[in-house]
Amino acid sequence: MPLTCGNAENVLSFRRLASLGMRAAVHTRFGPPDVVRVVESAVPTLGANDVLIKVHATTVTSAESAMRRGEPRWGRVVIGLRRPRRKLRTLGTEVAGVVTEVGSDVRRFAPGDEVFGFTGFGAGGHAEYVRMPADGSLAPKPVGRTFAEAAAAVDGATTALYFLRDKVGVRAGQRVLVNGASGSIGTYAVQLAKLFGAEVVGVCGPGNVELVKSLGADEVIDYTTRDFTADVDAYDVVFDTVGKSSFARSRRALRAGGKYVPTTGLGNVPLGLWTSLRGGKKVVFGMSVRKNAGLLVVKDLLEDGRLRIVVDRTYPLERIAEAHRYVDSGHKRGNVVITVVD
Ligand SMILES: NC(=O)c1ccc[n+]([C@@H]2O[C@H](COP(=O)([O-])OP(=O)(O)OC[C@H]3O[C@@H](n4cnc5c(N)ncnc54)[C@H](OP(=O)(O)O)[C@@H]3O)[C@@H](O)[C@H]2O)c1
Repeated sequence: MPLTCGNAENVLSFRRLASLGMRAAVHTRFGPPDVVRVVESAVPTLGANDVLIKVHATTVTSAESAMRRGEPRWGRVVIGLRRPRRKLRTLGTEVAGVVTEVGSDVRRFAPGDEVFGFTGFGAGGHAEYVRMPADGSLAPKPVGRTFAEAAAAVDGATTALYFLRDKVGVRAGQRVLVNGASGSIGTYAVQLAKLFGAEVVGVCGPGNVELVKSLGADEVIDYTTRDFTADVDAYDVVFDTVGKSSFARSRRALRAGGKYVPTTGLGNVPLGLWTSLRGGKKVVFGMSVRKNAGLLVVKDLLEDGRLRIVVDRTYPLERIAEAHRYVDSGHKRGNVVITVVD
């Protein structure tokens, strides 16, 4: 397979890379953070439509900490019944780095391009190199942002955009509640809902009230002192980014025609179907998978200074198990970054 080699100083020929191998975080069984080990691994081989990215920064998301644990149990049909599927042994969906090689049919990117993107079900970002299809969820890195920041602006930002703009079309005059407002999706959701002109109520714990206010929320509810589901006819949209509520409990808090928008929970799939067939309040569920267009919107918003990235902690790849342990707490603020190349 002919491959194009870049001129950048740090670009090595593919053959030489393959013979050198790379560091990658690997887990071969489900379990606690210590199942993740950084080991020598083979550099991915490229197809004609693929790009090879030298990963400078990636993240540990809460979805990945759940995948490492093998949760939810029903998810093992996808991620592996008794142990992680081979292709999911190196996690890592958010990446920012430099393209080092491109397949023979790739025109969209060239070696040396700085990019940020979402590997999705391909995972593999917790490594020095990751392969992605050139037409995958990949875009030029936002100008003026570090690789660490760019990696933290992939999944949370595009998922918030997908739900708030594409699925429910949040607009001026609406009142939007964001549950989990201090998380990865939540921190972007608060800002985007404000940009769309909505009045925004954020829900988080006491330690994050000031953060959520600083992101532009009009009101912040500390869930340890007040339960938003006790509110009546209060919100056009309840966006539960962290799966801590339910349609049944939130229904009363929704205004007539209001939408309950969860990012997680298998039971929300049939509920979404059922409520779509009836009048009244609806459950709107979905999966943000194709992120190409979303990444370009996020890039623009970041370059204009209209979107802020919240990075909580940063760990080097060698300490990725510690990052998993922290994410397992369920209380990260925004994003947890892994630096792979300094
Ligand atoms: N459907 C899709 O397309 C899609 C895409 C991406 C992700 N997801 C899913 O979305 C979920 C959340 O992702 P995320 O990364 O945004 O979450 P996250 O960053 O891990 O959320 C952490 C935040 O949740 C807050 N929190 C904890 N308990 C809470 C409670 N009882 N009420 C309100 N907030 C609470 C914490 O605030 P305090 O510390 O203040 O408690 C913390 O800041 C995951 O399950 C992921 O799999 C779905």
